Amino acid sequence: MYAQLVDTGLAKVRSADDMDEAEAAFQARIDAGVRIEPRDWMPVPYRKTLVRQISQHAHSEIVGMLPEGNWLTRAPSLKRKAILLAKVQDEAGHGLYLYSAAETLGVSRDQMVEDLHAGRAKYSSIFNYPTLTWADIGAIGWLVDGAAIINQIPLCRCSYGPYARAMVRVCKEESFHQRQGYDIMLTLCRGSAQQKQLAQDALNRWWWPCLMMFGPSDAESVNSAQSMRWGIKLHTNDELRQRMVDQTVPQADFLGLKVPDAQLRWNEESGHYEFGKIDWDEFYRVLKGEGPCNRERMAARVSAWEDGAWVREALNEHARKHEADSARLA
Ligand SMILES: [Fe+2]
Ligand SMILES: [Fe+2]
Repeated sequence: MYAQLVDTGLAKVRSADDMDEAEAAFQARIDAGVRIEPRDWMPVPYRKTLVRQISQHAHSEIVGMLPEGNWLTRAPSLKRKAILLAKVQDEAGHGLYLYSAAETLGVSRDQMVEDLHAGRAKYSSIFNYPTLTWADIGAIGWLVDGAAIINQIPLCRCSYGPYARAMVRVCKEESFHQRQGYDIMLTLCRGSAQQKQLAQDALNRWWWPCLMMFGPSDAESVNSAQSMRWGIKLHTNDELRQRMVDQTVPQADFLGLKVPDAQLRWNEESGHYEFGKIDWDEFYRVLKGEGPCNRERMAARVSAWEDGAWVREALNEHARKHEADSARLA
């Protein structure tokens, strides 16, 4: 598909002889901090990596609406319901900006959706965990959106223009999401002993999966080194994970909650928290489709797509009519 993109003129074709020169010029632009835009020449693997990363990101925003959507009808007050509704709608918007950013690389939205539904494209594994109580909604906003911010802030400076610009708005909204999650946790922690226990249980459930969101240690990964040279990735997974722990532990302390890690301790010398070992077997199990909600999430997405067929048809029909009318008037 990507070879075909090069042939159809979406990217300027370079012969094998001057490819090295073109690549060197491309790298020099990135090194100088010049943004790459959709019409610019780019190496095929750069385009391919971005399509994979941006579409995966878009799918995560959309699938991520499901665990929280689960609580829209059961929010404890009208105010909480309105806030959660706004948050979930924001996530739909994030998905749409990101699908649009991926489309600038020559892949269609239908293709991306088809890849997701066929299991060829991934989304963040964190959304394969269930939301058992209202406190999970607090924990998701605080921790999952918190991790998303840490991941996405550097992407506002990534080398691909449409992706970087989408991230600026997304990050602003994510910070509202994180605050609303923390506010739910704070309210529960200042409530009855039972409410505080709900908050603690939610932290226990979400802490480790959130640390897994940054991905396995990538110090030796070839792909990750290449993504860093291309300015698509600006920090290693481990650096971002450390940032998450350093930022979140004091917030848990303020809530009066205990982070579920017996090895967690402050290292005076390094100025960072040390933390216990992550269960990567669990991570790979969920990634392979064996998480608690993988099947449920995919089934919900596929049925939403099928149920929406009549809306897409009606919109296409409307667009066709509008086009025909405009042609007649012209
Ligand atoms: Fe989002
Ligand atoms: Fe969010």
